[in-house]
Amino acid sequence: MNFEILEKTPLYDAFSDIGKRIFLPDGVFYWAGRAKKEADINGTIGTAFGYEKDFIELGSDEWLPCYLKEIKKYTELNVKDIVPYASIGGLADLRTIWREWIIRKSEYNSETDKEKIVHLNKYMTNPIITTGVTNAIYLSCKLFLNPGEKIICANKRWGNYDNIIVKNIGAEIKSFDFFKDDRINLDSLKDTINEVNKIQNKIVIIINFPNNPTGYVPSKQEAKDILKLLEETQVKLKKPFIIIIDDAYEPYVYSEEALNTSFFYELQQLKGDIIPIKLDGLTKELLMYGARIGFLTIGLKSNWVSNDEELEKLKKEINNKLEGMNRSSISNCNHIYQAIAERIFQEVGFEKIIDSRNRIKEVLEKRYEKINNELKSLDNPNISIDPNSGGFFLFINLNRQKIKANNFADYLLKHHKVGVIPIEKPAENINGLRIAYCSIDINQIPEVISRIKTALSQF
Ligand SMILES: Cc1ncc(COP(=O)(O)O)c(C=O)c1O
Repeated sequence: MNFEILEKTPLYDAFSDIGKRIFLPDGVFYWAGRAKKEADINGTIGTAFGYEKDFIELGSDEWLPCYLKEIKKYTELNVKDIVPYASIGGLADLRTIWREWIIRKSEYNSETDKEKIVHLNKYMTNPIITTGVTNAIYLSCKLFLNPGEKIICANKRWGNYDNIIVKNIGAEIKSFDFFKDDRINLDSLKDTINEVNKIQNKIVIIINFPNNPTGYVPSKQEAKDILKLLEETQVKLKKPFIIIIDDAYEPYVYSEEALNTSFFYELQQLKGDIIPIKLDGLTKELLMYGARIGFLTIGLKSNWVSNDEELEKLKKEINNKLEGMNRSSISNCNHIYQAIAERIFQEVGFEKIIDSRNRIKEVLEKRYEKINNELKSLDNPNISIDPNSGGFFLFINLNRQKIKANNFADYLLKHHKVGVIPIEKPAENINGLRIAYCSIDINQIPEVISRIKTALSQF
């Protein structure tokens, strides 16, 4: 494929060698797609087809993908919706629905007006379907980072970032100190950007709100400050800023003061070369962890193209690159879960899905309130709680000089039968416990905190 428009954009400049090299050639899926429309006899794709009656007792005359009769016992979905390969970028209807879902989610922000929605709708790519958010993180990092290149991230982060970025891709994470005085540490973020600027012709940042492991969500004012910092720094440095936005926990915001929409929306509206990449998925949003369905969507800039025709061409070129990434790694994603998600969205609709999920959100919100209240009673000079207002977790910092997080978690488990995740990274000033209150009954929360209190006094 010719990347005529894409090659002229800062997005292309920021690509890694793989990002520049990858494309989806006209392979099996291309010919199969054409044959479906144009051929009388289709011998293209490696999917066994037959007349149902020839492989199923009392089967019909319909020409179907061959399937084991036992499969019918486990689903009422049509075999056509579960057996064949899904398309490389994901089921077309689900991609369209997710696009509308992204737009629907933008409306939670009271500052989102009609004009912004028109802009959002026009200047974003069609979401590509990935194997969960993890795979979307992997793809987007691979697309922009060569081995040895740097990505900026908070020092407190989901541990799998290190597996993906450092161990798998061979790139480096440049950490900034997440908090200062219970607010995001913008000075540290700014210093880190300036340091990376000295050695790289692009700035790549990954953010995650509500955050794992801290539960931090910026307040609306902090969100404005972060935005201002990014905008001003980008103007000064004149390099593309790629902002990878891990929205795994997007809907779970429990405080009125906190930003209740993804950072994607505001970044996508900016004129400068701050390019947001939105990663979200069924995993937590629809509470379908094992579905392994995620989405990757890129925000585009109006000044990259001179007319609508070029814009459509650019979207196609980007789509080809992303499908090239999928084809060369996972080929395509789980069909049955895409089909289920599509049916839920089509038959239940956005609003009822949100209503059903709100019941779960309320359960989590009550636990969030309870655990934070209980922690206030834990008056101990050796601990502090990071600011938190969303997601599934919170983080207790332990005094490094006195309590090693791994040892303490082991002690807590052995002697008080409470399981939490210790995070100990001396080089990054981190020593504490992540508590996944999403998986603790509200009635057990006082007991958990009481056991932690006792353990602290004994340790
Ligand atoms: C911050 C963050 N991003 C991404 C993921 C992974 O999402 P998925 O299960 O869709 O791969 C998780 C899951 O724990 C997470 O905490």
